[in-house]
Amino acid sequence: MADIEITEAIDPGVSRRNFIKGVIAAGAAVGSANYMFRGVGALFAQPTSPGAVERLITLTVNGQQRRVDVMKQETLAMTLRYKLGLTGTKLGCDRSECGACTVLLDGVPHYSCSILTQSVRGREVKTIEGLAAEDGTLHPVQQAVVDEQGFQCAFCMSGFVMSTVGFLEGNPNPTRAELAHGLSGNLCRCADYDKILTTMERAAENMRQA
Ligand code: FES
Ligand code: FES
Repeated sequence: MADIEITEAIDPGVSRRNFIKGVIAAGAAVGSANYMFRGVGALFAQPTSPGAVERLITLTVNGQQRRVDVMKQETLAMTLRYKLGLTGTKLGCDRSECGACTVLLDGVPHYSCSILTQSVRGREVKTIEGLAAEDGTLHPVQQAVVDEQGFQCAFCMSGFVMSTVGFLEGNPNPTRAELAHGLSGNLCRCADYDKILTTMERAAENMRQA
């Protein structure tokens, strides 16, 4: 199914490598519609429920001040995806199990599905859309994904990339075992762990050379 959607989405003139590069810069993934909208109805379809009143707050996301109306019980993942349009952050389990929703808070990886948006005021939120330089140069971890073509469906990719960025900040020269341990909060439904680890080893190398 995913293969069919990929084939139809790619312009014949676009190389696989360039297509993947675009996907990685934005954290996009195909075949994930079921996941993208999971839970949205439950959160936004009850305007009269307690806590449903929205309050205007200011968040710092990817270096920008973003004003947004949020509900008391709204999670950061919901705000990022459905109010700020930052759909590179994925929603898988929506209950702190898979890591697909990982973002950086003050440089440290966190599950955005399990953090209330209200609680991150005054903190620096970074999503996968904020990793590349302004001129479009990919972050060394993103570049490693391009170089190694390290994911299958790539639904888990954003979370792994953000976790790796945070992990390598504290341990720039990890062993493969340390890397595996550091990324153990992220799951891959395609079970492509060996390739992902190889990719992230290359990411560490890219980071050291950057
Ligand atoms: S969606 Fe947040 S941990 Fe799975
Ligand atoms: S590559 Fe498909 S979920 Fe990880």
